[in-house]
Amino acid sequence: MHIPRHLVPFDTRRIQRIETDFLIVGSGNAGLRAAIEASGEGSVVLLSKENVNEGATRYAQGGIAVVMNKEDTIEAHVRDTLDAGAGLCHLPAVQTMVAEGVDRVAELLEWGAEFDRDKEGLAFGLEGAHSVRRVAHKGDSTGEEMQSALAKKALSHPNVSVLEHTFVIDLLTDSGACVGALALRPDGELTAVFAKATILAAGGLGQLYKRTSNPSVATGDGMAMAFRAGAALTDMEFFQFHPTALYMEGKPRFLISEAARGEGAQLLNIRGERFMIAYDEREELAPRDIVTRAVLAETMRARHPCVYLDLTKHSREFLEKRFPNILCTLRSYGVEIWRDVIPVQAAAHFMMGGVWTDRRGRTSLPNLFACGEAACSMAHGANRLASNSLLEGLVFGRRAGRSAVKAARRHEGPVWKPLSADASETPPPRGAQELRERLQERMWEEAGILRSAESLESALNALEKMPLSGGTDRADIEYSNMRILGELLARAALERVESRGAHFRLDRPERDDANWKRRVYFARGENGTVRMRVSRRGPKGENR
Ligand code: SIN
Repeated sequence: MHIPRHLVPFDTRRIQRIETDFLIVGSGNAGLRAAIEASGEGSVVLLSKENVNEGATRYAQGGIAVVMNKEDTIEAHVRDTLDAGAGLCHLPAVQTMVAEGVDRVAELLEWGAEFDRDKEGLAFGLEGAHSVRRVAHKGDSTGEEMQSALAKKALSHPNVSVLEHTFVIDLLTDSGACVGALALRPDGELTAVFAKATILAAGGLGQLYKRTSNPSVATGDGMAMAFRAGAALTDMEFFQFHPTALYMEGKPRFLISEAARGEGAQLLNIRGERFMIAYDEREELAPRDIVTRAVLAETMRARHPCVYLDLTKHSREFLEKRFPNILCTLRSYGVEIWRDVIPVQAAAHFMMGGVWTDRRGRTSLPNLFACGEAACSMAHGANRLASNSLLEGLVFGRRAGRSAVKAARRHEGPVWKPLSADASETPPPRGAQELRERLQERMWEEAGILRSAESLESALNALEKMPLSGGTDRADIEYSNMRILGELLARAALERVESRGAHFRLDRPERDDANWKRRVYFARGENGTVRMRVSRRGPKGENR
C-alpha cells in the first residue's frame, strides 16, 4: 500500500505555532523521565493524548525488575533477560538497562515513590522466567505509584509545560531531520510545535488486537508517525500476549498480574486440573510466551473459552495486602479471589518492536529520539522478560533526554519552519470505527498468538482492502496508524520463517538460529512504498 507522508493537510504559516527547546510526545514513565532530564537544559513541551496519567504505565501492576536484592546479581538479571528474549536481545542494550536500572530506581525512591517493604528493606516479588525475586512493587499498582512520583517531579519543574488532550498526528521534518510535530488541540484546531529536539514516548500498540490488556490510547501513534516521517522500525513481528487477562462476558480484559503466579497462583483447566507441567518444567513461571500458548492450547482442546487462575490457597488478609487492586476490581464483578477461581484468557499486552533506537535513544531520523514502548531499544528481543518494561522506560527515557540535550546544543537558527501538505497528498476521512473493528478482528485471528504463512497472507489480503483514513478526527488517525502498523507486523511475521519467542508460526514451529538471528527493518521509501530489510546489522547496514 502507498503510505502517505502526512495524514492531514496543513500549512504551518496558517495555524497556531509553539516553539520550544524540547518536544516530548507521551507522558508515561519514559516520557516523564526524559522530560526530567531535558528540563535542566531548556524549555520542554510535553504533549499528552488524554490526561497526563492515562497510559500503559498507570496500569502496570506487577512491578519493576531491578537488581537490589542482595541475593541477586547484574549478571543473573542479564542472563534471565537474554533467555526470555530467545536469542534476539542486543547484549549491550540489556547490560545498559540492567546496570543503570539500579540508579534509576534508587532516584525514583528519592523522588517519593513508595514500594512495599519487609523487614530486610524493599520487598521483591517473583515473576515468570526470573531466577530470583527481583520485582520491586507497590501492591499491584506499581505503575500508578511510579507515574505519580515521576509526574510530580517532572511537572514541578518551571521549564516543563504540559498540554493535555492534545493528539499528535504527524512529525514535522525539514531537510531530512525532525523539527517538531503537528498536533490536534482539544478545541479541534491544529497546532505546530517546533523544537530543537523531539522525543517520542507515545507508548504501545495493544489496541491493534481485539482482545487486549491495553488502555484505549495504545494505538501505536508514535511508531506510525515516525515511520511516515522516515524513521526505521524493527522487531514488529514480536508482540507479547499476556496469558492471564480476565475473561468475563461484557467486562474489560483486566490484567491479572504475573505476580499472582509468582505468589503461587495455579492455572487450572475446565476440569479443575493443573496443566502447565505438560508444557514446561517451570510450570506457571515459564516465560510468558510459553504460558500464553499453553493457555490457548487448553482452551482450544476443551472447546471452552477460558482457563482459571486459582489464588485461593492464600488468606483474604494476604490478598488484600498484596493484590488490593485485583481483589477490589474482581469483587466489583462478583468474584472473591480468596474464595473463587478467576476466569482468564490471553490478551495482547506489549509490543517488543517499534522505532529502532541505539543505546542513546537516537532513531535513524536526525533530531528524533525515542524511548519506552514506542521504541525498540532491542533490550527485549523476541519476548520481554516480565517487569522489564518499566525499567527500560526509565533507563532509556533518561538516555533519550540526554541525547536530546546534546542535539539541542548543536542547533542553530530559528526552530520554526514554513511547512505544508495539501489535500491531494493526504487520504480523505472515512469514518473509521467499523474499519478499526475489522482490523482488530483480523489481527487477532490471523496475526495473533499463532500464525502461519496462510493466515498471514490472508490478513495481508484483507488489510489491502482497508484504506487509510485522514482528516482531523482522532478516530480516523488512530485507525490509520494501526492499519499501517498491522501491515508491517504481518509482513515481518510472514518474512520470519521460524518460531522465536512471542512469534509462533504453526507452519515453522522450530527456532532457526542459523538463518534468523537477524532483524526485520522497515522504512518508508520516498515515494510512499514500504522498504523491508533483513539484517544482522543496524537499519542502514551499520555495525551496532
Ligand atoms: C503483570 O503484572 O503481569 C504485567 C507486568 C509486565 O507486563 O511486565
